[in-house]
Parts: sequence; C-alpha cells; structure tokens
Amino acid sequence: MKGYALIGSRRGGGNTATLVREAVRGLEMHGIDTTVHCVGDMDIRGCDGCEGCRKDGICVIDDDMTKVLEQMDEADIVIFGSPTYFYNVTSDMKAVIDRMYCRVRFHEDDRSIWSSHYEDVPMRYAITISVCEQHDIADMGFTTMAMTMPLQCLGYRIVESVETIGLFEADAAESDEESRSKAKKAGEKAALLLKMKT
Ligand SMILES: Cc1cc2nc3c(=O)[nH]c(=O)nc-3n(C[C@H](O)[C@H](O)[C@H](O)COP(=O)(O)O)c2cc1C
Repeated sequence: MKGYALIGSRRGGGNTATLVREAVRGLEMHGIDTTVHCVGDMDIRGCDGCEGCRKDGICVIDDDMTKVLEQMDEADIVIFGSPTYFYNVTSDMKAVIDRMYCRVRFHEDDRSIWSSHYEDVPMRYAITISVCEQHDIADMGFTTMAMTMPLQCLGYRIVESVETIGLFEADAAESDEESRSKAKKAGEKAALLLKMKT
C-alpha cells in the first residue's frame, strides 16, 4: 500500500505543506509509506490540448509531470493540497490537474462516455486539503471542488476534504492545532479504509 501527496503551493514550508505533511503523518502512523512532492520543486507546464495522449494515455510533454503520474499510477491514496488563489487552486495545481487528462479514456465513438486508468482495480482513495487566509469559508471559493471533481472524474473516492480558514503567514498552520488535527485524522481515516481492504 502506497501514498502520494502533492503540495500545490510554491511555499514549500507554508501552510499547505504543514497540513499535507500532517495528513501524511496520519497515513504513515498506519504503515502507509508516502512520497511527497511540492510544485515549487517541479517544472510542470499546462496541457497543450493536442490530444496526443488519446492513443496510449501518454502525455507528449516531457517535464516533471512524468514523476507525478508515476507516483499516481502506483498510489492507493493521494493527497492533493492547495492554497486558495483568487477563489481557486493555484495555477501550479491546476496545471497538474489538467495534465491528468492523459489518464482519462474516452469511448472511441462517443466522447460523452469516459472512464480512467484509475478506475481499474484497485480502488483509489483521495484526500483534499484547502487553505485560505480569510475567515469566511465563502472566500475559499472553488478551491475544494477544483480538486475533488477532477479526482472523482478519474475514479477516486474522496475520503475527506479538509478545509482550513484564517491562515496567512507561512507558519500559521504550525500553531493551528485544530487544522493540523483535522489533516492528521483525514490521513488516519484513509489508512484505516485501505487496511479494511486487506
Ligand atoms: C495570489 C494569491 C491569491 C490569494 N487569494 C486568496 C483568496 O481568494 N482567498 C483567501 O482567503 N486567501 C487568498 N490568498 C491567501 C492564501 O490562500 C493564504 O495565504 C494561504 O495560507 C497560502 O498558503 P501556503 O502558505 O501554503 O502558500 C491568496 C494568496 C495569494 C498569494
């Protein structure tokens, strides 16, 4: 059993990173080894829309998305975390999500019918973590949905969507026990779900 976590903020020591790492801690407490990547350390450009992936599910762009897809292909559970940027995920997280398009399989005669490589066995699970500065959840906008809907489209079951408000300074999450606990519990819940399958 394996996990994969993606920090969608370029602040590698910021709030999203802190909370994603808490969720990873929850997974690892139950023996699920997890690889963590941060978009700030990677070079991932947006989708060209060339449809070059239609034939074989392989993206024609040669960049660090290859590393993300390698991890996602192997992982039973993924954690996607993003700060809110103008009511949505960061452009880095959106680039990753758009590039996952290569893992969608459309019926060759009817594009209203689709499936995904990730719907093949085993069942995949996902946690999303959204972080915003304002104290009104409305100011988080579409952040959570911008991650959950594509993941569900790809066949993931969303175990938990952690939403945290009122975090601005890069180290704010470190002293926010409630948010850290929510993130860790989400990781633990996912690990226990995975264990139920064995
Ligand atoms: C470009 C930009 C746009 C932002 N837009 C919002 C927003 O729409 N709503 C909000 O509550 N916070 C917004 N914020 C604040 C961040 O979500 C907040 O500082 C968060 O803690 C950053 O997470 P990080 O430390 O993981 O990078 C924005 C910050 C930046 C840099």
